[in-house]
Amino acid sequence: MKFSIRTYGCQMNERDSEAIAALLVQNGHEQTNVESEAELVIVNTCTIREKAESKALGKLRNLCARKRREPNFIVGAVGCVVQRLENEILKFVPKLDFAVGTRSKAFLPEIIEVIKSGGGPIVDCANEVEFNEKAWGEHKEGEITAYVNIILGCERRCAYCIVPSVRGVEWSREPSKIVEEVQRVVRLGAKEVTLLGQSVLQYGVRNNVWSEDYVSPRGYLEPFPRLMEVTDTVPGIERLRFISSHPARCTDEFARAMSELPSVCEHMHLPLQSGSDEVLKRMRRGYDTQRYREALASMKKYMSGFAITTDVIVGFPGETEEQFQETRRFMEEMKFDNAYIFKYSTRPGTPAAEWEDDVSEDEKIRRHQILLDDQNERGQRINEHLVGTSVEVLVEGVSKRNDDKWSGRTRTNKIVVFDAIGNLEIGDLVIVKISSAMPQTIYGEIEKC
Ligand code: SAH
Ligand code: SF4
Ligand code: F3S
Repeated sequence: MKFSIRTYGCQMNERDSEAIAALLVQNGHEQTNVESEAELVIVNTCTIREKAESKALGKLRNLCARKRREPNFIVGAVGCVVQRLENEILKFVPKLDFAVGTRSKAFLPEIIEVIKSGGGPIVDCANEVEFNEKAWGEHKEGEITAYVNIILGCERRCAYCIVPSVRGVEWSREPSKIVEEVQRVVRLGAKEVTLLGQSVLQYGVRNNVWSEDYVSPRGYLEPFPRLMEVTDTVPGIERLRFISSHPARCTDEFARAMSELPSVCEHMHLPLQSGSDEVLKRMRRGYDTQRYREALASMKKYMSGFAITTDVIVGFPGETEEQFQETRRFMEEMKFDNAYIFKYSTRPGTPAAEWEDDVSEDEKIRRHQILLDDQNERGQRINEHLVGTSVEVLVEGVSKRNDDKWSGRTRTNKIVVFDAIGNLEIGDLVIVKISSAMPQTIYGEIEKC
């Protein structure tokens, strides 16, 4: 069948969609990017905030409306909304053919066969604990930047967060399997690999992944630095990244490993959530601002030009104006290169859902806008310092906003837009001299191919 996949949500979902696509292609189906041509559309859903969930459900209902004209058209849902709603999803989208949760996707080809022959609807939210290697290791050719899963689930249970209940228990994948997958994507053309997990520093915490007699060449004792070390040695890997990390687990060894391993980039996405110790405590984040400050300081001690990006939530229950101002001040102190700002959204079943959502929507909008404006001003200031310097850029393709230009990213994960010269190809590493800066993008000319 011709299928297409629509993906909402985080990098975890993007990776899951790639793996689903590869699994279906292996089973004789054909992928198309043109949704109207597809006989089967799968929506990979996100429930992190209420809006994300309603968007995904709206999309599914729209797709189901097509069944009136095309009776054989199949619509399926996968991902976090399915795992949250289970059978209830059929109440929201009655014409849905199948719904498969976050930990049971290996059976999709079989499920599609049943639907094709007139069966269904099928809802499968089985909770496989271990990493299903059969379903999850596949990649397509031609990816310059590739995602590789290292840990499933999350058990940190931040008070506002739905992820632990929809992504299940933590399970760390075996290092040898991860290295095999990294080797495979590099063979298929990837230059940059991002190791994925809700909290990569939980790697090897719940289930032991290193045998007792394993000796790390550089003497690392912690599971994640060891994993970075073995991944770094894969021939052909130019850049290694990971997402996300957690401030409570940023140790000196981790910072040292980042600086010692040549492919590991000088950037970290380290979600802050709030700059108020009182709010952090109620969020159950497991660190205070001092801990965050120290984590960043140790990164900067080992790596010059280190870049830091973050996530912040405004309007958490009980957040006062003063606490919001503390966040503002702390963000300026940390000099974030970029920040994703979210308005708090109550998620059913989370501890914070028991508390009154007492910051009004208007106030959330105001705080959100203030932090965005602050960040724009700060991003501009930080990026202007780069004007006149030369940076290494991995060429990723034609610029999204300007067809005549090319774009890529620095090791510090900044987007760079530049004129293409000569026989430039996607995947090349070039040196670009920076000539101007915007808050989220820098511009320049190629110095060296
Ligand atoms: N595991 C990652 C975060 C994944 S969710 C981590 O902890 O690093 C991505 C971001 O969504 C979070 O960092 C948080 O800022 C935001 N988020 C999570 N739950 C939210 C909620 N209920 N309301 C608003 N934003 C939320
Ligand atoms: Fe959610 Fe916290 Fe887990 Fe991140 S670490 S996914 S915010 S519970
Ligand atoms: Fe959304 Fe699920 Fe990711 S809720 S943010 S797609 S883990």
